[in-house]
Amino acid sequence: MTKNAKFIPVLKFDWLTRFFDPLMKLTMSEKKFKKALLLQADIKDNDIILDFGCGTATLMIMAKKEAPKASIYGVDVDPNVLKIAKNKVKNSGYEISLRAYDGISLPYKSETFDKVLSSLVFHHLTRSQKEIVLKEIYRTLKFGGELHIADFGRASNIFMRGMFLIIQLFDGFINTSDNVNGLLPEIIREAGFDKVIEHKRIMTLFGTISLYRAIKLL
Ligand SMILES: C[S@@+](CC[C@H](N)C(=O)[O-])C[C@H]1O[C@@H](n2cnc3c(N)ncnc32)[C@H](O)[C@@H]1O
Repeated sequence: MTKNAKFIPVLKFDWLTRFFDPLMKLTMSEKKFKKALLLQADIKDNDIILDFGCGTATLMIMAKKEAPKASIYGVDVDPNVLKIAKNKVKNSGYEISLRAYDGISLPYKSETFDKVLSSLVFHHLTRSQKEIVLKEIYRTLKFGGELHIADFGRASNIFMRGMFLIIQLFDGFINTSDNVNGLLPEIIREAGFDKVIEHKRIMTLFGTISLYRAIKLL
């Protein structure tokens, strides 16, 4: 990671990072929405998969359990979270490749991946970071490749909107507003993707998570 890469740690402060996994289990229906994302991505045995903003590696380990012959790569900008991910991957016994991201260029060749997954990362990114990241994801996807995102979207009801204020107070308003205003599909389309759809909505304690799907067409 370059020294200048700016990012919001998983729970805003470095010293809270170690509490991320238990908190996700308790408050975010983690298994439910990650299983739904994997169901949507429909990973096949020989697929080459990137988890963008892989955090502590939970989604990648779940993916490997479902499709052991798929090749799984994870990238994240935060060296502290990557340390936790490395330990979890080692303990899982699965072969998963982890790399650091410099916030600008993904460390992979163009047209590498069949599918890119990303869970709860985009609400950490400003509009310009979202655009940079989506262009890089587009570059590294094969033609016909798919992008599958789970992240906070437009609130399903006023209660969900109210609860999402807690996330906004914690993670920031500038980076979260595109999400809650329902603008992610438009931003994904502007990066060159086709067939962008919101596939599903899941309510959690801290707001509505939307599952998006998009394709890099031939
Ligand atoms: C809320 S956590 C989600 C982690 C994991 N994807 C999950 O669902 O458990 C957000 C993740 O996004 C990463 N992140 C924040 N800014 C990023 C950026 N500019 N590029 C890549 N990852 C970033 C953080 O380091 C963190 O691991």
